[in-house]
Amino acid sequence: MPSVTYTAFDGSETAVEGFAGDSVMETAVRNGVAGIVAECGGSLSCATCHVFVCADTVFPAMEDLEDDMLDGTAVDREDNSRLSCQLKLVGDADVRVLTPETQV
Ligand code: FES
Repeated sequence: MPSVTYTAFDGSETAVEGFAGDSVMETAVRNGVAGIVAECGGSLSCATCHVFVCADTVFPAMEDLEDDMLDGTAVDREDNSRLSCQLKLVGDADVRVLTPETQV
């Protein structure tokens, strides 16, 4: 079973188990993790699920639309920025992401 550790802007961590095929965003929302708003519910139209992916976590490259949407995040994007609704959990991977100071 995969797991996700979310590190908030203040440094606090929340670790939860997820399900393969679910997204990092869905896993956060299901478990009440603060720091991910997900206004559009994962349809790639809000950018309020912005996360910074930790160096030890690897996801497939982003599609062009995700890349475009990352230009509209509340906190400026960085090289490791992704939209968590596009990050699918696989196998028993332990995924680590940081959530930005604000999403809106
Ligand atoms: S939840 Fe809206 S873009 Fe990810």
